Amino acid sequence: MSVLLTGGAGFIGSHTAVAMIEAGYDVIIADDLSNSSLKVIDRIEAITGTRPAFYRIDVADRAALEPVFQSNRIEGVIHFAGFKSVPESTRIPLKYYRNNLDTALTVLEVMEDYDCSAFVFSSSATVYGETNEAPFVETMPTGSATNPYGTTKLMIEQIVMDACKANEKLSAVLLRYFNPIGAHPSGLIGEAPNGIPNNLMPYITQVAVGQRDHLSVYGDDYPTPDGTGVRDYIHVVDLAEGHVKAMDYALRHTGAEPINLGTGQGSSVLDVVTAFEEASGIPIKREIVARRPGDIAVCYADASKAKRLLNWEAKYDLRDMCAHSWNWQKNNPKGYDD
Ligand code: WQD
Repeated sequence: MSVLLTGGAGFIGSHTAVAMIEAGYDVIIADDLSNSSLKVIDRIEAITGTRPAFYRIDVADRAALEPVFQSNRIEGVIHFAGFKSVPESTRIPLKYYRNNLDTALTVLEVMEDYDCSAFVFSSSATVYGETNEAPFVETMPTGSATNPYGTTKLMIEQIVMDACKANEKLSAVLLRYFNPIGAHPSGLIGEAPNGIPNNLMPYITQVAVGQRDHLSVYGDDYPTPDGTGVRDYIHVVDLAEGHVKAMDYALRHTGAEPINLGTGQGSSVLDVVTAFEEASGIPIKREIVARRPGDIAVCYADASKAKRLLNWEAKYDLRDMCAHSWNWQKNNPKGYDD
């Protein structure tokens, strides 16, 4: 059965491609490589022994996307394609609204035209906003996101829910990711951010490999056990497995289901630094600085709905996530660049 992964060459998309191929799906990747590399396709083949079909296209371009549906009988779509930098989205909001909404709308329209009715969306815990309190449960009202990137996730969730109400054949799972880190245990695929990383784990691994001098810890005066921010870090391979289960579910049901993908465990910034030091044997120089605007104190999932509906739960712990992130970074110090 053929499934299209838009943005399938990215960090989460590539791990999901591996998991989908291993689960027996025929994987088709559409990616414009604006924030990823063609090498990812070779690496997916090296891991699985199967080369996914690959189309280098912008999925917001209907004329480029339609032939993909014409040449393949696509039964489901996992939609990852989109811009994802929180600070850039605050600087250039129109770029984020234009791209993230256009890609989602075009994919949904073309799916309808080609009678493809299973949709899995790459959403985010950011939709819970600032006013709900952790653990975040899917029944909570979604908040107002603190940045345009997060608002695009909220808007697309709404678009998908409305589309499902109007089209009784359409089935969607809205996967609300917590904080994906780690890498494939092979060390062949992983996170390769452009420029200075915004997120904690790639920043730590770049300090470990000597590319950055020290980590800035954004605030130690939060109401948390050690004063630093608490997040629900989840291994990207567990997350990828969640997509396989979500697609299996979407193919058998109708309607729209928001589902958290997290471990249900919170870890502080200093917990992550300590776990990384233990896993890698490398001390991480750090400096406490002011809070980062827009950050909340505590964010972790109630992960019970994923267990109940998808029979999915995370298997890897924080130590594994750190060991695999480090294995990827030390084998690929420049990411996919030579
Ligand atoms: C984690 C913790 C920081 C960097 C963001 C987006 C979210 C999703 C994932 C995806 C926080 C602290 C970080 C650093 C630090 N987006 N930190 N020093 O902010 O929870 O989530 O990424 O595409 O929508 O908002 O993740 O990794 O940036 O931060 O102290 O250099 O690490 O303050 O407590 P966040 P993060």
